Formats: sequence, C-alpha cells, structure tokens
Amino acid sequence: MIKLLEVKDLVQSFNLTSDFLDKLKLKNGRVTIESRVVNAVNGISFYINRGEVFSLVGESGCGKSTTARTIIKILEPKGGKILYKDRDITRLGPKEMLPLRKEIQMIFQDPYASLNPRQKVKDIIMEPMLFHRVAANKDEAYNKSIEILKKVGLRPEQANRYPHQFSGGQRQRIGIARALAVEPELIIADEPVSALDVSIQAQILNLLMDLKDEYGFSYLFIAHDLSVVRHISDRLGVMYLGCIVEKGSKEQIFSNPLHPYTRILLSSVPTIDEESITDSLELKGEIPSPIDLPSGCYFHKRCPFAKEICKKVVPQLKEIEDGHEAACHILLGEEGDRDNEKKGYTR
Ligand SMILES: Nc1ncnc2c1ncn2[C@@H]1O[C@H](COP(=O)(O)OP(=O)(O)O)[C@@H](O)[C@H]1O
Ligand SMILES: [Mg+2]
Repeated sequence: MIKLLEVKDLVQSFNLTSDFLDKLKLKNGRVTIESRVVNAVNGISFYINRGEVFSLVGESGCGKSTTARTIIKILEPKGGKILYKDRDITRLGPKEMLPLRKEIQMIFQDPYASLNPRQKVKDIIMEPMLFHRVAANKDEAYNKSIEILKKVGLRPEQANRYPHQFSGGQRQRIGIARALAVEPELIIADEPVSALDVSIQAQILNLLMDLKDEYGFSYLFIAHDLSVVRHISDRLGVMYLGCIVEKGSKEQIFSNPLHPYTRILLSSVPTIDEESITDSLELKGEIPSPIDLPSGCYFHKRCPFAKEICKKVVPQLKEIEDGHEAACHILLGEEGDRDNEKKGYTR
C-alpha cells in the first residue's frame, strides 16, 4: 500500500488575545501577561493509503474541520508534519501549494455557503478546470462540465441555473462536481451529508462511493456521527478534544471498540447488526473547553470508568491488536493487575 497522505503529531491552535493590551491581566495585585488559546488540534497522527477512505469522527468542536483546514494549509500548522506522497508539505508557501490545490479537493458541509450564488453551475465547474488547466479552452471545459454534471446525477440543462435554484442535495452534487472537475487524488469531505435530510444522505454517500470506485481517488471523510461512516470507511480515527483516542479498521472499531468514548459513541448508533456492541453507556457532562484542557486523560471527567491515574497521566496511543490503537489507562493496565482492570472495564 502506498501512503498518499500522512499526518504526524499535527498541532493547531488559535490565539484569541492577539492584542497585547488584551493579554495584560491583574492577578493578586500584579500585572501578568496571559493569552487565551484554543487548543483545537493537540498532536494527531494518521495516514491514508491510496484508494482508501479514512474517517475522522467526533463530537462538534473536537477539531475535525481545523485538522482539514490545516492539511490543505488554509491554516499554517503550529506543530507536526504533513506528508503528501512522501513529500513534506508542512512549510510550503501558497505558491508551492498551488499544484497540490488541484490534487487535494474539499467538499464542505454547507454547499450553499461554499458555492458562489452569482455564478451559474457551469461556471462554478469550469472555473477551477481552466485555472488548473485541466481543460485547454472554454469549449473543452464546457463539454467536460456537462459530463461531470451527468456523473453526479444532474441534467445538462441544469448547467445554466444558479445555486439557489437547487435543493440541498442537488447543491451538494454541484459541490462534488466542482471537486471532481480538477481530477483530484484526495478528497477531503468535511461533514458532506450533515446538513441534508436523512433520505438524501444515503444518496450522496452512495454517489461519493461510486465516484471513488470509478476515479480511484482517496477520501479523508469527516463526520460527527459514527453511523454515517459505518459503511464507507476502510479505517477510522475517533477524535476527542483535538486528540485521536482510538484508531483502527472499520471492523475493529465497530465490532471491538476499545476506548470508552468510542463505546459511548457507538451505543448511540442504532443498529440491527447482531455483532455490534450494544452498551448502554451515556456521556456525562459537557465537553470541556479547549481553552482550558483537563489534566491527565482529556476524557476523564466524562468517563464512566475513570480512576485516579486518569486524572493525572495523559494516556498514549498503544497498539492493542494489529493496526488497532487506543489511548486509555484502563486498557493499558498501568495500574495493578491488567486482567482485573479488564474485568472492571467490561463490568
Ligand atoms: N478561527 C478560529 N478561531 C478561534 N477558535 C476556533 C477557530 N476555528 C475553530 N475554532 C475552535 O477550535 C475548536 C475546534 O473547532 P472545529 O475544528 O471547527 O471542530 P469540529 O469541526 O470538530 O466541529 C472549537 O473549539 C472551535 O470553537
Ligand atoms: Mg467541523
């Protein structure tokens, strides 16, 4: 397998106090300098093989979109490495990134916000083709755009319409057509069906998978809900507060979830599959603020199994079975007898 994309220890944060005066705080009668920093992505690593679908899943605010925006360098990484086809692209500037903007395309959650309302559909699709020279001239671009429209399930005569004349599902088809227009190798799909009716979601997911089979590209697929990625993923990473707490193949994650957070996410997924884990675990409390990260395991305050060590020590990802990693003290058995820990964990 050839790695198309590899992300190593990626870090991203946002400083909310860019103004120097904002940073000055009075503490116990003394002036101190303090910054409020959102720690959105806290050292995540994963790779995507060519032709593979890798999914990042986690609650809203856990850093999924920030990860995507950092990979395509809309945001400069604060730490870690991004390798594309074995080439280190972490520090490439906008000019050097230009050819890669063709190879790595994004599909967004809200297709309407990402489509120019004043452009006809044909122009939305033709523009990136001409910019990246996928088509030599306007005629060729037009013909190609009509072919692509048909591929995504729209009719040629719809090419002359504007985005507002389409339904949500159709607009997402236009967003997909625009991504396809430049013949990408990697598509980053950031919650592409979250804004759509459930009945439409399956159609769009099927379309994305059919196109993958036909064109052979790879996906980084982002979702907040495990049920969405259940059928389409080859491998997954489960994110919590800017970290990946578990990663593994689809089979490993769905039939043998290890991390308590994954188990809780899975317990809320309706299933008719007998092999699935059907824990009735509930998530306690609110997701902590990424400005003020918890000590130890970031999940300990909401974890039904948390112990003393979890409050103090950050658990590292460890391979529990081949290709299946989780970051949890209880699984690692760092305290006391591992078997007992396991019994306590599974109850
Ligand atoms: N431009 C920004 N400035 C400040 N905070 C941001 C910015 N973008 C995202 N965040 C914060 O970073 C965290 C992760 O956000 P995001 O990556 O959008 O999460 P997700 O896509 O998983 O819902 C959130 O706490 C969010 O409020
Ligand atoms: Mg998001």
